[in-house]
Amino acid sequence: MLHSAGIGALTVAVTGTGMLSYRAYDNRVLGADGGAAFDAWRHWRDDAGPRGVLAAAVLAASPHNTQPWLFHLSGDDRIELHADLSRRIGSVDPYACETHVGLGCALENLALAAHARGLEPRITLRPEPGRPSLVAPADLTKATQQHSPLYDAIGYRHTNRGPYRDRPIDTAVLTDLAALADDPRASVIWVTTRAGRDDLGDLMIRAARAVTEDEQQSRENFAWFRGSADAIEKHKDGLTLDGQGLSAVVTSAAKLMPATSRTSGDAFWVKQTRTVHTATATVYGLVLVPDRYDPLHQLTGGRLLERIHLAVTARGLALQHMNQITERIDRDRSQGRDPVFGPPLAALADRAGGDGRQVLAAFRLGHPVRPGRRSPRRPATQVLR
Ligand SMILES: Cc1cc2nc3c(=O)[nH]c(=O)nc-3n(C[C@H](O)[C@H](O)[C@H](O)COP(=O)(O)O)c2cc1C
Repeated sequence: MLHSAGIGALTVAVTGTGMLSYRAYDNRVLGADGGAAFDAWRHWRDDAGPRGVLAAAVLAASPHNTQPWLFHLSGDDRIELHADLSRRIGSVDPYACETHVGLGCALENLALAAHARGLEPRITLRPEPGRPSLVAPADLTKATQQHSPLYDAIGYRHTNRGPYRDRPIDTAVLTDLAALADDPRASVIWVTTRAGRDDLGDLMIRAARAVTEDEQQSRENFAWFRGSADAIEKHKDGLTLDGQGLSAVVTSAAKLMPATSRTSGDAFWVKQTRTVHTATATVYGLVLVPDRYDPLHQLTGGRLLERIHLAVTARGLALQHMNQITERIDRDRSQGRDPVFGPPLAALADRAGGDGRQVLAAFRLGHPVRPGRRSPRRPATQVLR
């Protein structure tokens, strides 16, 4: 694909110059997801037992790819999911809402992978109020094996930040996706009208700008950007250039440029939000819960979000999480400031049928122009305690 895009010639042309050839090597201009940081995507089906369940769980979505999870295995019949709150993104996630949504995503993969291995997981959310880091023990009993297209999609699910085609999503598909909600605490609504999408898109652009103008949020976001192949291999987490949904040519060229600074990364994100993410969003989804600050609602909403993402993947569609509005709402709340983005988001959700429920997470859906790319992962063995 890179050759057909002409990048082979570009690489040959620039490798004559010392610094650029180093950047080409250092940043894996070609073969971006070949290293050990991507092994988890290649081996997630290898183990037929509970360790295989963990291998699927670590492939879940998480805020900024922080992977805020730890697991404990007791024998062959109990897996505990724990929160690693040291991986919360400071001022971007002051109430650990996103952290818990990501933990909910891991829990959904865990449940699907258990079923696929003939194990019934009995999951209890936060069973010990005095021990909030224990998120969810899952007691496993033998059961009939249940394979599902959602399970099969675990290895192909990626957040797709590229452009989407100007083609609507069938209403029947949206109805099916909404029907995946199986717990009354979490539901999804769709923003499909031109006016609704414009208003939400505008709010997202303003919120992205506000995040970049808030130095602490900007710095704490940037801390999770992995700008070189070495950093990716070392940390096996965070955001990468390959995950930005750019064309192969532009991604390769960007890797040959000097490493991104925080301010240029911020400017790039705001521009992408305006010219690609919101400009090509065919429909937005809003995951709603009664109380955005209730960890049980966050975990339940996270499970629904991951289930929707897997179902979207199984249908060959694309999804991008877009949470800058709620990040600004939580930031204002944590600083005791008047909410700038809360009232307009609540009004928008109510117009789309939100019925007074609160927005937990937002995303866009569409027919992708190009596939999403793998993001790095710490393997299950590294997050087992
Ligand atoms: C709670 C939550 C919030 C997220 N917020 C955003 C966001 O605002 N913008 C974005 O592009 N991706 C967002 N993501 C996607 C993550 O960055 C992504 O899941 C992570 O980098 C791993 O990549 P993957 O989903 O392709 O496996 C979010 C994911 C979760 C679970």
